[in-house]
Amino acid sequence: MRTVVFVAPFLMEATLKFVRAAASLPGFRIVVVTQDGPEKVPQGCHHWRVGDGTSVEGIVEAARGVAKQWGGIHRIVGILENIQEQLAAAREILGVPGTTRIVAERCRDKSLMKTVLREAGLPCAKHRLLRSHDEGMAAAKEIGFPLVIKPPDGAGCRSTYQVSSFEELNHVLTELRPSPGHEALAEEFITGDEFSFDTITIHGKVLFKNILRYLPGPLDVTRNEWIQWCVVAPRTIDTPEFAPIHAVGPKVNEVLGIHTAFTHMEWFRRPDGSPVVSEIGARPPGAQFTTLMSYAHGRNFYRAWAQAILEERIEIPIERTHAAGCAYLRGPGQGRVARVLNVDKAQERVGHLVVEAKLPQVGKPKNAHYEGDGYVIVRHPDTQVVEQALKIIVETIRTEYA
Ligand SMILES: Nc1ncnc2c1ncn2[C@@H]1O[C@H](COP(=O)(O)OP(=O)(O)O)[C@@H](O)[C@H]1O
Ligand SMILES: [Mg+2]
Repeated sequence: MRTVVFVAPFLMEATLKFVRAAASLPGFRIVVVTQDGPEKVPQGCHHWRVGDGTSVEGIVEAARGVAKQWGGIHRIVGILENIQEQLAAAREILGVPGTTRIVAERCRDKSLMKTVLREAGLPCAKHRLLRSHDEGMAAAKEIGFPLVIKPPDGAGCRSTYQVSSFEELNHVLTELRPSPGHEALAEEFITGDEFSFDTITIHGKVLFKNILRYLPGPLDVTRNEWIQWCVVAPRTIDTPEFAPIHAVGPKVNEVLGIHTAFTHMEWFRRPDGSPVVSEIGARPPGAQFTTLMSYAHGRNFYRAWAQAILEERIEIPIERTHAAGCAYLRGPGQGRVARVLNVDKAQERVGHLVVEAKLPQVGKPKNAHYEGDGYVIVRHPDTQVVEQALKIIVETIRTEYA
């Protein structure tokens, strides 16, 4: 038995899917290092309580304890974006293989990431790291409006602003107060459609590629609470429109030094068709994307993640057999979910395409995030059928809050 430390500060359902997948592989002892109690830990896994599962010290101390009880550690893994650097530091301290500190830093720090990508000649937004209000104003003069201002290490559109004038910029900078050690990132605003480019990379080779289309981009969804976000996995990604990103995507992994990882990159397609790399994480995507990939390929991608990371292998060929799409349910208003209307009408029209759904739960406090309070996943061999079904779902189902 090889011992795997799976760090999950909190055991959310999205994370548990990866824990269960790791536990389903034969020959591994999965020790879940968490701040949560043992009751949520899946059967067959061990529970290890940690005071702070987001700190290097907490992770290292827990891993040392695990090693003392069960012997050497095979891998230290985790899904959460904001612990990737800590996991890498813990691996380095304990001599455990996996994504290294420098690679984790390049994938976490959006300023460093873009500097490395631009130096390699890969297309990405012009950017400036801001350590003061004045540097923000100077960046605007150099780059021009609109600008995007965001934390260098954010996630889920947290504190991300699109600004179109000095007045708006002044307002945002006054709120963010960038300073040395608490920098903000200013980026040229990229116009275009937004997509993901996800890979399974093993020993530096991209062995699997995936593309998802965002309808619309997350920032537009965040800024307009009436928009219900949709994400589509097209039936085929081997089309001329995607040829440029197939060329650029694997180079991004290469120049960042990604060795063995499930990666999640985001990119824009400019109106002229050229790609602009937005950001990359050396971890699987959130927001049901791994589930979407599973439905599009008739393959369990949670398990594929576990095989890639724990066994450094992938079962190929992986064939794309379907288009799949997810509609994220939410609505305008504040408070708690009061009603979910017209589900029956949507069911009547597209129910035969639905493969998975979680409706907003009445009484639950509103989730302001672009993922909303529930989702519906549809699947069909034809991309247009999937897109049409998503449109019907978001035009029909209404979530009300009170
Ligand atoms: N330079 C940019 N140009 C246009 N839109 C951007 C830019 N940077 C970010 N965005 C928008 O903001 C969203 C969140 O930014 P991102 O860098 O992906 O951070 P996060 O880690 O929060 O996902 C993106 O998905 C995109 O919609
Ligand atoms: Mg993003």
